[in-house]
Amino acid sequence: MKDILTELERRRETARMGGGQRRIDSQHAKGKLTARERIELLLDEGSFEEFDMFVAHRCTEFGMEAERPAGDGVVTGWGTINGRQVYVFAQDFTVMGGSVSETHGQKICKIMDMAIQNGAPVIGLNDSGGARIQEGVDSLAAYGEVFERNIRASGVIPQISVIMGPCAGGAVYSPAMTDFIYMVRDSSYMFVTGPDVVKTVTNEHVTAEELGGAGTHTRKSSVADGAFENDVEALSEIRRLFDFLPLNNRQKPPVRPFFDSPERLEPSLDTLVPDNPNQPYDMRELILKTADEGDFFEVQKDFAGNIITGFIRLEGRTVGVVANQPMVLAGCLDIDGSRKAARFVRFCDAFEIPILTFVDVPGFLPGTGQEYGGVIKHGAKLLFAYGEATVPKVTVITRKAYGGAYVVMSSKHLRGDFTYAWPTAEIAVMGAKGATEILYRSELGDPEKIARRTADYEDRFANPFVAAERGFVDEVIRPQSTRKRVARAFASLRSKAVQMPWKKHDNIPL
Ligand code: HXC
Repeated sequence: MKDILTELERRRETARMGGGQRRIDSQHAKGKLTARERIELLLDEGSFEEFDMFVAHRCTEFGMEAERPAGDGVVTGWGTINGRQVYVFAQDFTVMGGSVSETHGQKICKIMDMAIQNGAPVIGLNDSGGARIQEGVDSLAAYGEVFERNIRASGVIPQISVIMGPCAGGAVYSPAMTDFIYMVRDSSYMFVTGPDVVKTVTNEHVTAEELGGAGTHTRKSSVADGAFENDVEALSEIRRLFDFLPLNNRQKPPVRPFFDSPERLEPSLDTLVPDNPNQPYDMRELILKTADEGDFFEVQKDFAGNIITGFIRLEGRTVGVVANQPMVLAGCLDIDGSRKAARFVRFCDAFEIPILTFVDVPGFLPGTGQEYGGVIKHGAKLLFAYGEATVPKVTVITRKAYGGAYVVMSSKHLRGDFTYAWPTAEIAVMGAKGATEILYRSELGDPEKIARRTADYEDRFANPFVAAERGFVDEVIRPQSTRKRVARAFASLRSKAVQMPWKKHDNIPL
């Protein structure tokens, strides 16, 4: 018996060493942790249960039968984050560059199948040279199997990808189908074709970092939802994100203890909106002052700053926030902002996370760039996402809510449950100046007359009361009481149940 136990420990020790000390040192020298070190930081101490530690590949091409490392370049299993179950895979770059073989793919599929069946999220830590070159089509088939599970799991369990090294070629499409992608600055990249191919085909000279680094994907492409300085920060922030999410689409998000009274008033909010309607203010201040303990996990912070998305808690319960940001593009909706917010709203709806919307929107951004880029279709994504969402929806209009953008931003007309307006709200087809110039075009030569007309229009429409008369606004509230009012609104909606007509699935404008 003793010999067998010694043999087990010996085998385990070999497996834990992955590609060996030299390659582990090389991984560390690049500022990267190993797969096992990453899992240790991600999960609660001592909670990791590993699967398939001794799985080895079956390839016999290119002399591969002589090199069959235990685990085959990916560490898989499950554990807990703050006591809640999660399945994890971490690719081990020290073993053949974390490349994906038939058996490597099977290990990932096994935990994904269990995650779907048992209703717990999957977190993938990606660090791989892509398809195992020696295995050819078997490797491609393995990717295909993982993709199929990504699709099956979508909307059933939250899926999170962290890119912590190379992720290139078709390999990018597994993370691309997950709910959130995070990257590590300077040590991770994602692209469909690398710099050399780009140079050959398009004669563009770019580095891997420029082509697919964290800066590119968080600011330009919006492929990634955020980036962190190093592995340690990334993993601790993923733990923070995880705490906001439900385990699956049949459960509510977790309820955390909170130490912030839902009755808390914020008198400073009474002066947040400046007197001059063209002066911006920081909508983030309202979000932070509304949230429990001012805790806000922002998603896609570096992309489309004209709209803010992220998670807060109210009375310990997760709420998704979407807010126009008057500091960027005056808070106009555009292609990027609509896509960003639509995806966020759909995530919240899929996982029963109520949505709080703060509105200050002068309309859609005009211009050929927007029209040629398809702002009609992209704007429709957000409209569609809000309209189809059946989770509790509470909206607060702080200032402008003009035109189509008023309707899009979770209005009553899209079955918003509560619409509150601050006294500073202006709900109209457009701003007073633009309206007057259209209605009184013949008087444009007379500035005094036009000024009077503009003032008349402002008196009539630059307030929340016309909409309140119609019942499109449920109540005009004091800004300082926003936290209290929205917390009570969400509390009243905890048992909300909505039936939608049967359909196979919708046809959201993609
Ligand atoms: C097998 C691989 C490998 C791969 C790396 N290795 N990639 N082994 N298949 N795809 C091995 C290397 O031989 C090396 O082994 C070890 O991993 C580390 O690689 P290095 O090149 O020394 O590391 P580094 O200099 O950091 O470069 C990393 C790299 C480079 C940029 C990822 O290895 C690389 O370009 N690899 C090939 C990438 C690629 O073309 N993959 C296929 C993409 S297409 P030793 O024994 O020396 O430690 C694809 C299709 C997916 O993935 C389709 C899905 C549908």
